[in-house]
Amino acid sequence: MTRPDRRLSVAPMMDWTDSLDRRFLRLITRRTLLYTEMVTAQALIHGDAAALLAHCPEEHPLALQLGGGEPARLAEAVRIAEGHGFCEVNLNVGCPSDRVAAGRFGACLMTEPATVAACVAAMARATALPVTVKHRIGVDETDSYEHLAGFVATVADAGCRSFIVHARKAWLSGLSPKENREVPPLRYDVVRRLKADFPDLEIILNGGIRSLDAALAEIGPLDGAMLGRAAYETPYVLAAADSRVFGEAAPPKSRHAIAMELAALAEAVTAEDTPLPRLTRHALGLFHGRPGAKLWRRALGEDARDPQWRGPRAGELIRTAAEAIPHAAAACE
Ligand SMILES: Cc1cc2nc3c(=O)[nH]c(=O)nc-3n(C[C@H](O)[C@H](O)[C@H](O)COP(=O)(O)O)c2cc1C
Repeated sequence: MTRPDRRLSVAPMMDWTDSLDRRFLRLITRRTLLYTEMVTAQALIHGDAAALLAHCPEEHPLALQLGGGEPARLAEAVRIAEGHGFCEVNLNVGCPSDRVAAGRFGACLMTEPATVAACVAAMARATALPVTVKHRIGVDETDSYEHLAGFVATVADAGCRSFIVHARKAWLSGLSPKENREVPPLRYDVVRRLKADFPDLEIILNGGIRSLDAALAEIGPLDGAMLGRAAYETPYVLAAADSRVFGEAAPPKSRHAIAMELAALAEAVTAEDTPLPRLTRHALGLFHGRPGAKLWRRALGEDARDPQWRGPRAGELIRTAAEAIPHAAAACE
C-alpha cells in the first residue's frame, strides 16, 4: 500500500469538505491529500455507515477523519471503514465544540494523552492503514510545551507516526469553535520545535496558511502543510499545488478551465437529482479577487437555487457565468 503523501492537504471541515466539495477540489488539484468531514465512531457504528463513508473514486487520495474517545468503539469504526478505499484514518483531537467535549472527545483529549494513545493503539490494531492524529498545541491551562511534547511522545509510542498540528491552543469554555480558530494566537514556533525534538515523526502544520507560497515556506522545515479555510474560501490557491508541491509536469489550469469542468460535473450530479446549489456552494470562491467575482457568486449562490437549472441547463448556467468574467492574462494569476 502506498503511503499518503502529506506534503499538502486540505483540512477536514464539517459541512464544508463533503463529497461534492472534494469532487470540485479534484478539478483543481489531483495530488493534494483530502480529508472527509469528521465522522463520529458512534455514528458509524449505529448510523448509516454506507452513507457516511460514501465518496467517489476520483476523490482519492482521501483520508477519513474519525471522532471518538473510546478505544473499542474507534476500533469498531475503523473496521467498518476498512475496505472503503481511504488511505489514512485520522483521529480528531482538535475540535473544541461543547457537544464534542460533552462526548469526551476532540480537543479535550489533549489533557488525556494515555486515552489518546489507547485509542490510536486500538485503531492501529484494527487496520493496516496509517493512523494519524490532528490536534492542538494545548487546551485551557494545559498549554505548556512540556505537556505537548509528552502528548506527542505518548501517542507516538502507541503507533502514530504523523501528527497534524493546528498551531494554536483551544479554550474549551468561553470561546465558540469559530473563535477558537481565530482568537488564540498562532504559534508556528511551537510546531517547529516539535519537529526539532521529534525528527523521526512526520509533523504537519495547520492554521492560518492562506497561500501556496506560505504553505511551501512551511513544508521546508516541516513535513507538510494543511490548508483549511483558505482552500475552501479561495480554492484557486491550490491550482499550482500539483506542479509546485508534487513536481507534476502539467501546468495549472485556469479558473475558466476549472469552471468548464465544474459545468460538466454539475450536469452529471444534477442528472442524479442532487440540487445544483449543493455543488455550487463550494465553488463560490473560485474567482475570488477577480473582476466579476460578484456575478459568479450570484449565479452560483442565488440563481442556482431555481430548480430549472438541472442536467444540461445546470452546465449552461455555470458556463454563462464564467464567460461573463474577463479572462486573466496568465493561467495561474
Ligand atoms: C467550517 C469548519 C469546520 C471544521 N470542521 C473540522 C472537523 O470536522 N475536524 C477537524 O479536525 N477540524 C475541523 N475544522 C478545523 C480545520 O480543520 C482547521 O484545523 C482550522 O480551520 C485551522 O486551519 P485554517 O486556518 O487553515 O482554516 C473545521 C474548520 C471549519 C472552518
